[in-house]
Amino acid sequence: MRIFRGRLFTPHSSPFGTDDVAASFTYHEDGFLAVDDDGRIASAGSWERRSAQSPEAEVTTFGAHALMTPGFVDTHLHAPQLEMIGSYGGHLLEWLNRYTFPTEAKFADAGHAGMIAQSLFDELLHNGTLTALIFSTIHYEATDIFFREAERRGFRAIIGKTMMDRNAPAALLEGAVESYEASRALLEKWNGRGLLRYAITPRFAPTSTPEQLRLAGKLKQEFPDAYVHTHISENRSEVGWVSELFPESSSYAGVYDHFGLLSDRTVLAHGVHLSDAELDLLSARGSRISHCPNSNLFLGSGLFPLGRTVEHHVQVGLGSDIGAGTTPSMFNAMADAYKVQQVQGVSLTPFHLWYLATLGGARTLSLDPAIGSLEKGKDADFLVLDLHATPLISLRSDRASSVEDLLAGLIFMGDDRVVERAFIGGREVSSRRASEAPAARMEAMS
Ligand code: GUN
Ligand code: ZN
Repeated sequence: MRIFRGRLFTPHSSPFGTDDVAASFTYHEDGFLAVDDDGRIASAGSWERRSAQSPEAEVTTFGAHALMTPGFVDTHLHAPQLEMIGSYGGHLLEWLNRYTFPTEAKFADAGHAGMIAQSLFDELLHNGTLTALIFSTIHYEATDIFFREAERRGFRAIIGKTMMDRNAPAALLEGAVESYEASRALLEKWNGRGLLRYAITPRFAPTSTPEQLRLAGKLKQEFPDAYVHTHISENRSEVGWVSELFPESSSYAGVYDHFGLLSDRTVLAHGVHLSDAELDLLSARGSRISHCPNSNLFLGSGLFPLGRTVEHHVQVGLGSDIGAGTTPSMFNAMADAYKVQQVQGVSLTPFHLWYLATLGGARTLSLDPAIGSLEKGKDADFLVLDLHATPLISLRSDRASSVEDLLAGLIFMGDDRVVERAFIGGREVSSRRASEAPAARMEAMS
């Protein structure tokens, strides 16, 4: 048993649709987290009130400037797009053709994929993202490399090989059957291995023939516990194109439903322009939406209707959507989610935002039995945030009038500098000090 002492903040239910937001979280200025030898949370609470833990337990004191909180969950990102962040100009469809497809074609080279995989998991961990739902490219080998690197890091991930068989450059297309078989082989290899899961990943309706979507649905039927990960209704031209390509379907969501791709293991990125009837359909199927505010602003896709989505009982999480999104930081995802609602006349509280980035994300990925909050029985996936990370953050944190105000300061000013340490299943996976340049480390030691 190990005990960690410091400030502790955790959501434990949704603050949406309740008047009693204060009942949705716990905060202790002097708190503790007890982690058992299996890496699970044995108990969490106020230091003063802790019952006698095993007397031989090792106590690590992080101190008054450290905040323990659940690891962030990124519900949508593209691993191969890390190197093209900030590719500007043009809306979605032009951006895909001009930048995205040429970048993804490079992943035929395993060496390139290996290099990007290293950077990706470095960045996610430094930013406090401990779980992610990830698009790879169409390449079997590159996808296998992303899985292998996640496994090597002890990272919790759901990854999938992109499926495309039309409307993209020839180098990124494969036959519907070939794509089904390669996806199936990766699924059988990785789904359920340690902390890893497989997502059947048709890119979006326009880049798949009906035959490919049918085979994706067949794969889902053969492996009901696998995830389905795709995009929906991000951009108005895209929505119009889908109705031309699938004239017999009544809606974009209807296309996926027709092929058996909507279930409670389905995560659809964006959903900016969904109709009420489509939200009803997603709700009936239990499907989830990844809201990616940074990306929606960057590509000019539109303003996500969060209130309407939640009213339809569709579970929502936050996504960075790298590389249309410009940073892996979930602090930024929270800040941009706030701003996207703010311009629509709704002010989300820090508790709503923090929930979306942690427990809400875990629920979106159906991983909430294991992660998303710091509660007894869950895996000890947690961050230690440094409230004194920079002089300005220190100034802001020290003057915070409440926990609400403290979290607000972190949401709008926080980034990877704030993430001091990160633990997955009780195992330390990243520490800021260890990742500093050797020269800085030597200086710190002397
Ligand atoms: N829709 C289909 N592919 C993509 C992609 O790579 N990024 C975004 N943001 N939307 C998409
Ligand atoms: Zn995306």
